[in-house]
Amino acid sequence: MISSMLNKSLDIKSAYLQQLLDSGEQEIYLSTEVDFGMTIEEFHQKIKDCQKCALGKTRTKFVFGVGNPKADLMLIGEAPGRDEDLKGTPFVGRAGQLLDKILESVNFAREEVFITNILKCRPPNNRDPQPGEVEQCMPYLNKQIEMIKPQIICCLGRVAAQYLLGTKESLAKLREKDYYYDGIKVFITYHPAALLRNQQFKRPTWEDVKNLRRYYLKINNLPAEKLD
Ligand code: URA
Ligand code: URA
Repeated sequence: MISSMLNKSLDIKSAYLQQLLDSGEQEIYLSTEVDFGMTIEEFHQKIKDCQKCALGKTRTKFVFGVGNPKADLMLIGEAPGRDEDLKGTPFVGRAGQLLDKILESVNFAREEVFITNILKCRPPNNRDPQPGEVEQCMPYLNKQIEMIKPQIICCLGRVAAQYLLGTKESLAKLREKDYYYDGIKVFITYHPAALLRNQQFKRPTWEDVKNLRRYYLKINNLPAEKLD
């Protein structure tokens, strides 16, 4: 853990040094002090008692997110459901089990990625997130993205994609275009819960995640994999 944080901090410092060198800096003073900043778990502890919106009163548990704090891939769902609210972990119900299968089918392990939601608390009866709730909660997601610095974001379903990208486009349209969020490549696919209701979404979802995997392999200079 310490060594992975140290590596990340050193990565940032060496990029900064390179920038100074490139800009023609003649003398560079090096500090041996390493600034760890806040860890993702410290951030979790800091916000877990949030009462910024009314969902703070009705939730059982705050659902921060789970996974690798240095993940290359970050998955963003809509909001916790009943199982997630009880457990405090995203995507642990039926949709979550299907998500695990989808990830495995393109050679991502759940532990390797980071999984979270637009809203960190369950809306009563799983109703849609309200704009005011999203507005209060988005800074938490933005901070997570800033800390984890994923190479790829994958939005699960229309609601996640619309709120992240600030658009009202349909999911069908959203799937077809290229998006970036803060310079990070965004893939958009169907929500696993939609797949459970509608078999016809399965094939396009698999196409989306295969494309995502191919993109991941390519930007990391990894050998092609047989995906089926
Ligand atoms: N659906 C979501 O959007 N998120 C979860 O965490 C679980 C189900
Ligand atoms: N419609 C939605 O709103 N979300 C999906 O994921 C699929 C269809």
